[in-house]
Order: sequence, then C-alpha cells, then structure tokens
Amino acid sequence: MDFNFSGKVILATGAASGMGFLVCKRFCECGGSAVLADINGEALEKAVESITESGGKAVGVKCDVRVYEDVTRACETARDTFGTLDVLVNTAGGAETRILGAKGDFPDVPIEVYDWGIDVNLKGQLYFCHAAMKIMREQKEGVIINLGSITGLEGSPSAVAYSASKSAAMNGLTTSVAQVGAKFGDIRCVCVAPGPVLTRAAMANMKTALGYAAEPEEIVEMFLYLASPFARSITGTTILMDGGRHIMFDKFHGENGKYGQ
Ligand SMILES: NC(=O)c1ccc[n+]([C@@H]2O[C@H](COP(=O)([O-])OP(=O)(O)OC[C@H]3O[C@@H](n4cnc5c(N)ncnc54)[C@H](O)[C@@H]3O)[C@@H](O)[C@H]2O)c1
Repeated sequence: MDFNFSGKVILATGAASGMGFLVCKRFCECGGSAVLADINGEALEKAVESITESGGKAVGVKCDVRVYEDVTRACETARDTFGTLDVLVNTAGGAETRILGAKGDFPDVPIEVYDWGIDVNLKGQLYFCHAAMKIMREQKEGVIINLGSITGLEGSPSAVAYSASKSAAMNGLTTSVAQVGAKFGDIRCVCVAPGPVLTRAAMANMKTALGYAAEPEEIVEMFLYLASPFARSITGTTILMDGGRHIMFDKFHGENGKYGQ
C-alpha cells in the first residue's frame, strides 16, 4: 500500500533487529521519523546508521524494556527529538528458553528463565503502553501495536512463560489499553500475532496450513497498515497472521494420535 507518514514518529522496541528494525526502516521510507529502542547497544548503533545513511531520520535509545526508567526515557526521546510519539510497536521479545539457552523439561528449567520470559514479553509491553499513553493522551491520538504469537494460542511445553505472555495476557493488555485510549481520544491499540516468521531461518521448520512461513516484510506491512489512517476503525483486537497454523488440528499428533509422538 501507499503509506504517507510524513510528520509522524514511530518508536519500536527490539528495533536493533528483525521486525522492529524493519518497521522503523519502512516507516522512514514512507516519510516518517523513527526511534529505535533495544538492549543491544552495538547492534542498535548499526541499525540506526543503516537507516540514517540512506536518508532516514532515526535515533537510537539503549533501553531494557524491563526497566521503567529506560522505557520513559525512550518515549520522551521520541517527543523531545521529533515532537510527537504517534506509533509504538512493542516488538522486543522472544521465547525465554531459546534466548537464554535453557534446556530441559519445564520443572527442570530454573525459575529465573521464566521470570525473564514474563518480564520481557509481558511486563515490557505493559510498561511501554503505560509510558507512551502519557504522551498520546496529551496528543489525543496515537497507535499502539503489541506483539502476540501463535504460540500464545496453542501453548508450548518448551516456552511456557512466552506462551502465557503472548496469549490471554496480550489480549487483555490490548483490549484494556484500547479502552483507555478510546477514552482519551483517537488512540488505538491492536495486537498482531504472527505464526512463523523468517527473521530466523529455523522458523521455516514450523508447519503452517499454507506450507510456508511469513517473510518479516509481510508482518511489517500489517504494522504500517494498522498505524495508518486506513485502519482508523481497528482497535482492541488481535490479528492472527499464521499461515493458517491454528486450523491445523493434527500438527502435534503422530500416527497413534498421542501428543508429540
Ligand atoms: N520471528 C517469529 O517467528 C515470531 C513469531 C511470532 C511472534 N514473534 C514476535 O515478534 C517479535 C519480534 O520478533 P523478531 O523475530 O523480529 O525478533 P528478533 O529476535 O529479531 O529481535 C528481538 C529484539 O529484541 C531485543 N531485546 C531482547 N530483550 C530486550 C530487552 N529486555 N529490552 C529491549 N530489547 C530487548 C533483542 O536485542 C532483539 O534485537 C517478538 O516479540 C517475537 O516474540 C516472532
């Protein structure tokens, strides 16, 4: 679609890589400005450079989404540098066991791993909704996009906190923040829940009904659509982009019909 974000400002978390980076890049290509927030300072610097070198207006904020002072600083950077905060995309996140390299069955994995999963995937998104809403309330407009996952719908024995965060928790956060936003003005909140996305090659192994994983650009175009006036009537809902994985009722079952075999 033909998006025009001139004069608009996006802030994405987890923006040093993957979909967070791509949404900032595309937003700048469509005339807007971007604040990239990430815990990985070195990768963040490179990500910002790659946008500014091609003429985009972007700044980076080193930020841990689990630390509320970092979160407010990131949101204020958007307003103080570019004048507004129009779009927040809560991209930082991931499966705790994969990211922290934890192996074993649920009861054998140290509890701290699950703390990380809840803190980054749920608390971090809530913190950013809270801090961004303070600015959006003053502006009386804005769009917040939270990240869910198909894993939130179907569960995962190897990513219990991730699954818990990305399911009813994200639905509750999104509907509640949408209700708050509607009270303050034209402020929308939507959750996008992808299935496998090829930000990592391994995601190609996760089955979908259609037989392929999404390219990150497809999900990012949805973010841009939701951020644009074309989506002005969409709020308080979750958009599932999973290649039909949720309709594959046999995906976990082997020949004897037992789970996982
Ligand atoms: N890739 C997929 O297949 C897929 C599927 C469903 C949902 N998702 C969700 O989409 C989002 C983006 O996925 P992706 O594959 O583009 O991500 P990615 O792994 O490429 O990037 C995640 C970024 O988050 C940053 N990050 C991690 N912890 C942080 C913290 N405490 N504070 C700030 N930044 C932190 C990392 O440094 C990294 O740059 C995630 O929330 C993920 O759970 C991804």
